Amino acid sequence: MDLIDRYKEVRQRTEKICFYLQTEDYVVQPVVDVSPPKWHIGHVTWFFETFILKPYFMGYQEYNPDYNYVFNSYYETVGTRVIRTDRGNLSRPTVVEIYSYRKYVDEAMEGFLSGGVSNDVKELLILGFNHEEQHQELLMTDIKFILGHNPLFPAYNKNYAAPHIDEGVNDAFVSMNEGIYEIGFTGDGFCFDNELNRHKVYLNAYQISPKLVTNAEYLEFINSGGYHDFRHWHAEGWDWVKTNKVEAPLYWHLIDNEWHNYTYHGLEPLHLKGPVTHISYFEAYAYASWKGLRLPTEFEWEAAASKFNWGRRWEWTESSYLPYPGFAKAPGAIGEYNGKFMVNQKVLRGASEVTPPGHSRATYRNFFQTNLRWQFTGIRLAK
Ligand SMILES: [Fe+2]
Repeated sequence: MDLIDRYKEVRQRTEKICFYLQTEDYVVQPVVDVSPPKWHIGHVTWFFETFILKPYFMGYQEYNPDYNYVFNSYYETVGTRVIRTDRGNLSRPTVVEIYSYRKYVDEAMEGFLSGGVSNDVKELLILGFNHEEQHQELLMTDIKFILGHNPLFPAYNKNYAAPHIDEGVNDAFVSMNEGIYEIGFTGDGFCFDNELNRHKVYLNAYQISPKLVTNAEYLEFINSGGYHDFRHWHAEGWDWVKTNKVEAPLYWHLIDNEWHNYTYHGLEPLHLKGPVTHISYFEAYAYASWKGLRLPTEFEWEAAASKFNWGRRWEWTESSYLPYPGFAKAPGAIGEYNGKFMVNQKVLRGASEVTPPGHSRATYRNFFQTNLRWQFTGIRLAK
């Protein structure tokens, strides 16, 4: 696919996600981690304008110089910005104005790309595509949080269907031999800087489940008092449970003694066979501990990834998000993309039902803080 087609496809996919929103849905920021949809659609546009059009397209006229302040996410190199918690207080620019901004940048990008681009620009462009895909997933999870925390529990899209991934019928743990394994990206395609350098790790023999933990299995943990037994939890996790009075995964509601779950279809009775989701690392760890098992490390996950069908949930691992040997940040603002977040976060592997198709791979490293659960997170056990 040529670059213009790929550009158009990525940009249109973002707008398709927003097709189901009403104007008011675009604006709110219920918690710090959930950005208003209108901020996302402006920010991904700003990314192409800032990193491609302004430096590389001769004669490009910036759409509105004030937008840098509004749509810069975390790039210190690119200047000051509205603080993250205040994204929901921006009634202006309006949703209509932000769509005009998108259109303006799209037209400029198509003009720019039609002239052919250097390899350096091509690399930035592909980073821009992957960046927008990451925000497509965030849009899906942020929209779910916004609608799922509305007391009316409105549906996002009654026809929403998760992609079908068959985990198979065999639930016997996969045995992996001890030995040296190669970890990290290899090949010619795109990868993020945090997947490099490819390097060797030594793994002891281990076993890993070919299946994700289901809602029914997780319910056993709840019903046996798992949230009330400190023995299964890290100290920090136990504080988190008590402070936030956590009793179940996010979006679970006990109504007339029956568990319900908010989904893109609205509030529904809990689907017991589905993979448990919207759990924090603390909960994933506690569940594994209650089972007498553990979470895999990210290296164990990657070494075994070809032996099971992953992709339904981002899977919490027991690994801290750290640089691989030889990791190097790119010069300038792009160097701020991943490296500066390598502290106090855990790695998640796989992909989720709202990850754009083709976005992830076996070496992909997602990462979040241990208490967060608004992403489609899940549990795969190891021993
Ligand atoms: Fe971003």
